[in-house]
Amino acid sequence: MKGIVLAGGSGSRLFPLTKITNKHLLPIYDRPMIYYPIQTLVDAGIRDILIVTGGRNSGDFLRLLGNGREFGLKHINYTCQEGEGGIADALALAEHFADGHRICVILGDNIIQGGIREAVARFRKQRSGAHILLKEVADPERFGVAEISGFKVRAIEEKPLRPKSNYAVTGVYLYDATVFEKVRSLTPSARGELEITDVNNAYIREDGLTYSFLDGWWTDAGTFDSLLRAANLVAQSAAETQTAAAGAAAALTLPAQ
Ligand code: G1P
Repeated sequence: MKGIVLAGGSGSRLFPLTKITNKHLLPIYDRPMIYYPIQTLVDAGIRDILIVTGGRNSGDFLRLLGNGREFGLKHINYTCQEGEGGIADALALAEHFADGHRICVILGDNIIQGGIREAVARFRKQRSGAHILLKEVADPERFGVAEISGFKVRAIEEKPLRPKSNYAVTGVYLYDATVFEKVRSLTPSARGELEITDVNNAYIREDGLTYSFLDGWWTDAGTFDSLLRAANLVAQSAAETQTAAAGAAAALTLPAQ
């Protein structure tokens, strides 16, 4: 399976932080935002990765990430989205890279505490279609919201005024090779973008969209509040890991009773 990180867009909700740089290069605690989704893919065993950049800062991604040595990679692929066509428009640029393989797409501003390894393993066994990851949230109106029944997703609404559930669609999407045909059939939404929710609804119409729930915390980081929340969550996890490591080290040095 190949991995795609979508890191284009203007980041207008974070203006003026994004006036001279790309949202995905902003810091989340001790690392640039884009490090987190790349690490999520690598931790799930996905090593063939394309980064879809955008705006005037494409060259900065190459300077920051190079060939991905920091992630134990030998190579990273890059392409560049021109304009503000939306998430599905950015995904269309990955068709050549995907080359008929299944893909795991992750939005460049999605920060995930646990991993996606289980979902990826599960999708490998699914014969065709797509798989999404859901998370129960208190503010579903900010996201794509899924209506589920049994193992299937029945419908997804993008940022509904009156959400039908509390299940946000996270920015991790597993697709078979038909995804690019589906992207080609889309028309722009009211906000003038090709929506990833419309891609997922195309799979639902074929009865082909399964889901699982994400373990641990999850956040996007595309607004001032969520950017701060992401940094706080990462910092808190880092502190917990340090405390646990110190506890384990202290236990080792204690004399046996
Ligand atoms: C996008 C998707 C939305 C999804 C969210 C996850 O929203 O359109 O369905 O729930 O990412 O981060 P956006 O960040 O473009 O508003």
